Amino acid sequence: MEKKKRVYRFGGKTAEGDGKMRELLGGKGANLAEMSLLGMPVPAGFTITTECCTEYYRLGGGYTPELRKDVAEALKATEKIMGKKFGDENDPLLVSCRSGARSSMPGMMDTILNIGLCSKTLPGLIKKTGNPRFVYDAYRRLIMMYSDVVMEKAEGIEPEDGQGIRQQLDRMMQELKDRKGYKSDTEITADELKDLAEQFKVRIKEVLGVEFPDDAQAQLWGSIGGVFKSWNGKRAIRYRQIEHIPDDWGTAVNVQSMVFGNMGETSATGVAFSRNPANGDNKFYGEWLINAQGEDVVAGIRTPNPLNEATKSEKNKNLASLETAMPEVYKELDGIRTRLEEHFQDMQDIEFTIQEGKLWMLQCRIGKRTGLAALQMAVDMVDEGLIDEKTAVMRVAPPSSTRCSTRFLTPPPKKRPRFSPRVSPPPLAAPSERLYSPPRTLSNAPRPDASASSSARRLLRKISTVCTLRSVS
Ligand SMILES: Nc1ncnc2c1ncn2[C@@H]1O[C@H](COP(=O)(O)OP(=O)(O)OP(=O)(O)O)[C@@H](O)[C@H]1O
Ligand SMILES: [Mg+2]
Repeated sequence: MEKKKRVYRFGGKTAEGDGKMRELLGGKGANLAEMSLLGMPVPAGFTITTECCTEYYRLGGGYTPELRKDVAEALKATEKIMGKKFGDENDPLLVSCRSGARSSMPGMMDTILNIGLCSKTLPGLIKKTGNPRFVYDAYRRLIMMYSDVVMEKAEGIEPEDGQGIRQQLDRMMQELKDRKGYKSDTEITADELKDLAEQFKVRIKEVLGVEFPDDAQAQLWGSIGGVFKSWNGKRAIRYRQIEHIPDDWGTAVNVQSMVFGNMGETSATGVAFSRNPANGDNKFYGEWLINAQGEDVVAGIRTPNPLNEATKSEKNKNLASLETAMPEVYKELDGIRTRLEEHFQDMQDIEFTIQEGKLWMLQCRIGKRTGLAALQMAVDMVDEGLIDEKTAVMRVAPPSSTRCSTRFLTPPPKKRPRFSPRVSPPPLAAPSERLYSPPRTLSNAPRPDASASSSARRLLRKISTVCTLRSVS
């Protein structure tokens, strides 16, 4: 009998899977593989298939010996590409465990970063990086995420409002900042972070009755299970109901080598759209933060910087753009933006991290957009020769299953997913129009002016007809 393949590797400019394998690898895993095949700088790792998620539930929450073996082998291959070993005391590799469904469920499931930090690996990483502050910052983040996702949510614990372990730890950190008069997390010193991590562990034991695992392998397998279980988290279930996503699809798990945007002033993290998702302008649009890890961009603790000069807003006009602060990296990212659009023939929503001046790509997917932007992009992309007219018309009137619930993707601030990858939307042309809402009317559609090409005019007429037909049907 043919052996079932449970794990697909990616990174080092090669991959076992590809972009077409969404069903098995989930959208994130498939695109990480595709970007690797395109030769883009993707931190190496592997994807555990969606079938393993189903298997995990069938086994009542367990792993087959085959999966354990396949993961161990894939981890070895990852270590080889990255030149570091997971759990090593001298130069430890750290990984993230990332969810990834077949159909995009933005921010609805969980991710754990910095897995592999424990008392055995902490001193080695400090010695290797010469940066204790960075190491303890990564450690406190791991403790916060792991206790929240794996030790609380995945265990089905439902704390009272405001009493979740993550909220308790957040408050402890805030109290420290208040005591010291710090405005930003980056002001907390290495020693303070070290103490904080110890206090976190004590609180976790008190509240959850279990020790935070001080072992890299235990953290890895705990995280894999935590991500599988996040498929059945409340947010995910509700999102599936609204979007009509079958419950038995399961999520893949992407185990990926960590890259660090929080290593100092030459490191950063950001999210971007290859075009403006609000009005469709063909301008690279996004946000980034220096010396930060993924979650910080959307956590609202610091105002993110604009990506470039052309898209500065009232809120961030005095902050440095990536284009001016790191021109070389920006150029490389802009090149990747163009290649991704050409390859996927659509607007892309991307996540990236810069570690000590080196760019790493962490995600790409087709970006959500307003109805207005969908029209503008469709017209422009036909003009640019990126897509044909038929595709353009289809894009403007997508089937309902690909539409995105506005209600869900712009949740009230308190319930906003911690890891929502969304860039805060730029000001919209029509105030009533919200990001991610599907096109409804043509009242605010771009009108072809005298300078518009004949193909654009023709396309707009076609789109008008399709939308009118839909609105009367
Ligand atoms: N290996 C890694 N190195 C550095 N940053 C990472 C790594 N893995 C994930 N991240 C960052 O952590 C954040 C959360 O990751 P992830 O993309 O898995 O979840 P999400 O963005 O919250 O949700 P979604 O499933 O919609 O993408 C993102 O900013 C991502 O770029
Ligand atoms: Mg993401």
